[in-house]
Amino acid sequence: MNSTLEQLKVKFEQALMVAFGDGMAGTDPMLVPASNPKFGDYQSNAALSLTKKLGQPPRVIAENIVKHIDIIDICEPPVIAGPGFINFTLKPEYLAAQLNTIQIDPRLGVELVKKPERAIVDFSSPNIAKEMHVGHLRSTIIGDCISRILEFRGHEVLRLNHVGDWGTQFGMLIAYLREVCPAALTTSEAVDLGDLVNFYRQAKQHFDADEAFQEAARQEVVQLQAGAADTRHAWQLLCEQSRKEFEVIYDLLDIHLTERGESFYNPLLPDVVAELDRLGLLVVDAGAKCVFLEGFTNKDGNPLPLIVQKSDGGYNYATTDLAALRYRIGQDGAERIIYVTDAGQANHFAQVFQVARRAGWISDGVEVVHVPFGLVLGEDGKRLKTRSGDTVRLRDLIDEAIARFRDYLEEKIKQEGREETEEFKANVAKVVGISAVKYADLSQNRNSNYVFSYDKMLAPLGNTAPYLLYAYARIQSISRKGNIDFEALGGEVRILLEEGTELVLAKHLLQLGEVLSNVEQDLLPNRLCLYLYELSEKFNQFYEQCPVLKSEEPQRSSRIRLCDLTARTLQLGLSLLGIPVLDRM
Ligand code: ARG
Repeated sequence: MNSTLEQLKVKFEQALMVAFGDGMAGTDPMLVPASNPKFGDYQSNAALSLTKKLGQPPRVIAENIVKHIDIIDICEPPVIAGPGFINFTLKPEYLAAQLNTIQIDPRLGVELVKKPERAIVDFSSPNIAKEMHVGHLRSTIIGDCISRILEFRGHEVLRLNHVGDWGTQFGMLIAYLREVCPAALTTSEAVDLGDLVNFYRQAKQHFDADEAFQEAARQEVVQLQAGAADTRHAWQLLCEQSRKEFEVIYDLLDIHLTERGESFYNPLLPDVVAELDRLGLLVVDAGAKCVFLEGFTNKDGNPLPLIVQKSDGGYNYATTDLAALRYRIGQDGAERIIYVTDAGQANHFAQVFQVARRAGWISDGVEVVHVPFGLVLGEDGKRLKTRSGDTVRLRDLIDEAIARFRDYLEEKIKQEGREETEEFKANVAKVVGISAVKYADLSQNRNSNYVFSYDKMLAPLGNTAPYLLYAYARIQSISRKGNIDFEALGGEVRILLEEGTELVLAKHLLQLGEVLSNVEQDLLPNRLCLYLYELSEKFNQFYEQCPVLKSEEPQRSSRIRLCDLTARTLQLGLSLLGIPVLDRM
């Protein structure tokens, strides 16, 4: 099914061609959802923007369009307003027919893209021997959601975990462990990630203070690069240890992605430098090999270099990203590459993309984009920290959300005089706690910083996961009360839209496709959250105004169907955010 907006666009363009000639083909109808329901459902400013081209007053143009537009099946007669805006209001019969079509469609009318792309989403990407922090959590949640939406639209998505598993820090860590805890380098259970993080911190201090140690660390890097068996083995153990911890988080959050860390690209780094040299882009500056950037200057106004090989021969984060980019386009055949990291890395990506572009590594038709996000702040408005000032462990953060919701749930169950099993309560608390953390993140425009507040994210009212999950559960309780099996309803139910709230709900139900195609473009998951939140609100308004189980036929069946469609839309939308639903909570 083509979305309503697309159908209107086609009809609009046809009207333009009939009214003003074939030269109008391809003209943008400038159709957008109406800013205010008072103006109908969609509006167009095209008549105003065409005045110059057509040499006619906008109202005359608008009248001509309205005269020729063939939308009798979709809309009420369009209304011209002000200087020449055209307003469209959808017909109830049209809406009912659309709902009838989607009710038998498991995709609820959301089309698959006509041209599926091969996309890579680079997200999560924590660093070995360091804790995964809230920035990685954001990347994980946002990257997973973007991947799910692209997959649902029919794209082929490779989810890559660009783990920081390579670089000089390993030399330092291995050299240090040889001194203080050699067992960690030979046996897998000797240390956990917490220990490693501490060792890493101490190693760094040692490194900064002791020259002999610096040399030892450098030797380890050389050994690692050269593939010396015992250093290699030690490195693998360290990775293993970290990976185990990361997996705990991924399991908890139901995240699936392919690990392809920085080390994967290590063998390709020399060629990146050689190729840049061959292309004449490489400059040696104070012993370092670099490419001078366009549009990035230091405070004296001189171009900044992007260093791709340091004077000691080592490579950088940027070199690896250049190699990764070449590989992803050349070997993986990616057509769209999406990097989900904090906004602090915006310059890094802009610089890497620029060098890759100048080197001709980004083929035509390939889109590379950095999807930045803001910081996670504590309720004090500063970077999220524990009370003692340490970085917050993700595991603790999630457990806390679960525990707090559990308290709320116990209280509610008591108040309602219900009896529930331990299993039920544990499961509801776990699902809602995790969902609340995910939703709090996704519902913000990712470009801004957001305040991590358990109270806000767990609130049963407002734009939160509990609110949406309760809306879903409420609908399931209607089906239980009326002994109705939504799944067995079949496609025969005729939908009637008579009450205002029914119409509003119907229109909203039909907008999922538009919302998803917007998210696919601008990669802003908060749009989908807002859509689902408004859906729940509109459902609640409908449910207040219109009796469902107690109404007469044919309204009764029609309203049951609206309930079912709302529940399915919520379920689908939430699943794209990585959130499961609960029938009862
Ligand atoms: N490991 C990096 C970090 O923790 C993120 C990597 C993002 N992806 C990339 N291709 N650079 O900041």
